[in-house]
Amino acid sequence: MKRSNLRYPSIIAIDFCERICYCLHIIDMNNIRNFCIIAHIDHGKSTLADRFLELTGTIDKRNMKDQVLDSMDLERERGITIKLAPARMDYKGYVLNLIDTPGHVDFSYEVSRSLAAVEGAILLVDASQGVQAQTLANLYLAIEQGLEIIPAINKIDLPAANVEKVTQEIINLVGCKKDEIHLVSGKTGLGAEELLQAVIDKVPLPKGEASNPLQALIFDSFYDEYRGVVAYVRIVNGEVRAGNKIYLMGTEVESEVLEVGVLKPKLNSKPSLSAGEIGYIVTGLKEIGKCRVGDTVTKAQIQNSNLKTKEDSRINVEPLPGYKEVKPMVYAGIFCAEGNEYEELREAIGKLKLNDAALVYEPEGSPVLGLGFRCGFLGMLHLEIFQERLRREFDLDLVVTVPSVAYKVVLKSGSKFPSSVKKEQIISETGYLIKNPNEFPDPSQIEGMEEPIMNVDIVSPKDYLGNIMTLVQDSRGEYLNTEFIDSTRVILHYRLPLAMLIVDFYDKLKTVSSGYGSMNYDFFQYKEAELSKMDILVADEIVEAFGSIVYKDSAFQTGKKIVQSLKETIPKQQFVVKLQAAIGGKIIAAERISAMRKDVTAGLYGGDYSRKQKVLNKQKKGKKKMMSMGKGKVSIPPEAFLAVMKR
Ligand code: GTP
Repeated sequence: MKRSNLRYPSIIAIDFCERICYCLHIIDMNNIRNFCIIAHIDHGKSTLADRFLELTGTIDKRNMKDQVLDSMDLERERGITIKLAPARMDYKGYVLNLIDTPGHVDFSYEVSRSLAAVEGAILLVDASQGVQAQTLANLYLAIEQGLEIIPAINKIDLPAANVEKVTQEIINLVGCKKDEIHLVSGKTGLGAEELLQAVIDKVPLPKGEASNPLQALIFDSFYDEYRGVVAYVRIVNGEVRAGNKIYLMGTEVESEVLEVGVLKPKLNSKPSLSAGEIGYIVTGLKEIGKCRVGDTVTKAQIQNSNLKTKEDSRINVEPLPGYKEVKPMVYAGIFCAEGNEYEELREAIGKLKLNDAALVYEPEGSPVLGLGFRCGFLGMLHLEIFQERLRREFDLDLVVTVPSVAYKVVLKSGSKFPSSVKKEQIISETGYLIKNPNEFPDPSQIEGMEEPIMNVDIVSPKDYLGNIMTLVQDSRGEYLNTEFIDSTRVILHYRLPLAMLIVDFYDKLKTVSSGYGSMNYDFFQYKEAELSKMDILVADEIVEAFGSIVYKDSAFQTGKKIVQSLKETIPKQQFVVKLQAAIGGKIIAAERISAMRKDVTAGLYGGDYSRKQKVLNKQKKGKKKMMSMGKGKVSIPPEAFLAVMKR
């Protein structure tokens, strides 16, 4: 009796508290679960996320389209996730915040950002493909962050699914029990409900206190044309609402919050966001550069009456551990095919930059290509996606120069930096970073050069080991060691120059491993290299966009490959076109595209040989004159630029 007397008031008290929380829009932190899905590219993250959104009623089945969280046209078309996308689901009294992350290696910085904002991760592995290189890379990132891992095998509906084998691979990798691995199909929805229940049961509750001073981690941001910068945040401590004055600790700027809310997955405004929640803040800032991903948001006003000044209140708040700043690895020049579109290009790049923290760009002028921009990317897919978006979303006709990695060069003492080298490229008294082959110094002034080397992990069935070894050797790779995932599949660890990876290493890996090989890479260190600048001449004119930095010892082969592929892609002209590769003015490889022949002698019936010769000579003279009048200019098709890139 006594017991029941005690229980009743407490139940009433709990109910009362819940009602108050509801009215005040405060979420009980015990009911929040923040998680993400990590997987190799195409193992089905976005499709599984679709099922979760459907299951929780976040999106009506009628409004459901495939891969809802991939909002860009390009993402949907190519079936890849480029941007991370958060979604809040209300389910069985719980608030489940899911962040869908990209799987491609170029976008791994996006993954690390989502991992810092959550407490758990579903590790998703395709039942027909098994553990792949990025499964490993992302899993290690998640373990480093101390996340709870929930393993799941996806696509079990596929006839090629090999659940037994993949189960064993996951057990070897994670060290979990067989019955802890969920079997799901993102396509049919099988097992999705149980997996979501496991998220509720296993993902740890967020830590932090709503009553503490505000500490929110910015994990992404975008620019809204009307309202300025919108930051995606994870509230670690405290609470934020519209009208609050906030202070961004890294960039040291203050602003007034215009709105806060959650992502369902569209922006859905709310009176406040408090500890444990994931949502957005319309910051009132007009420059995206001031709202850096990884920065900590706190309040600008005095939190505590004992603190007299703003500064005091800020000292009271510790900045959260941020992210490692991402640095571009690959540079390329982007120009308009039509010179008069420079303004449009400038505006378009500026707009894309607003939502692409990793992109860097600066104006660049070229005597042949006119005004354009030198842009820095995380990798080749990033570059490819970027130019595709410029073409599609802004209808621009582009010329993209041969991509180059950032080389370090040290000059002999007393030498001067080339005039185009900017302050931010200088790394020491005599050293600078080359972002553009045109910044290559006079070879007599070079003391030494270094190139970026990457740690590369390749996962493949062991049958292709020989082929992969040969490919890596041909690509100047250094073998480190081999690990076995199970009796049939291996992880190969190598070091490779980034310059070799960006050409078409991934395509080649797919070819030599019949599509089964996958890889992941990250930066290791700079290492000495013997390099030269190679120019390509078309019809005796240097085509700047084709200029590249090559290894001295293989310059001849590289030059030969380039002129050969140009021969196949540049159409025949009225005259013979010379294609040459040159280093320091010395031609090292050459090809010719023969002239389009019009049979000027077709109308001549009979007559002696000299008549024919006369007409032919006249044609020859005409072609020569055309060349000298400047009409011999060769228009180079976009395929030729691609051919040189994939030399
Ligand atoms: P990225 O974002 O590019 O890393 O890909 P993702 O992991 O989000 O994969 P996505 O959901 O785009 O799925 C990749 C492909 O697999 C799509 O064609 C899906 O239709 C298909 N797919 C996903 N889940 C399943 C499944 O359970 N069964 C079958 N049969 N196909 C699936």
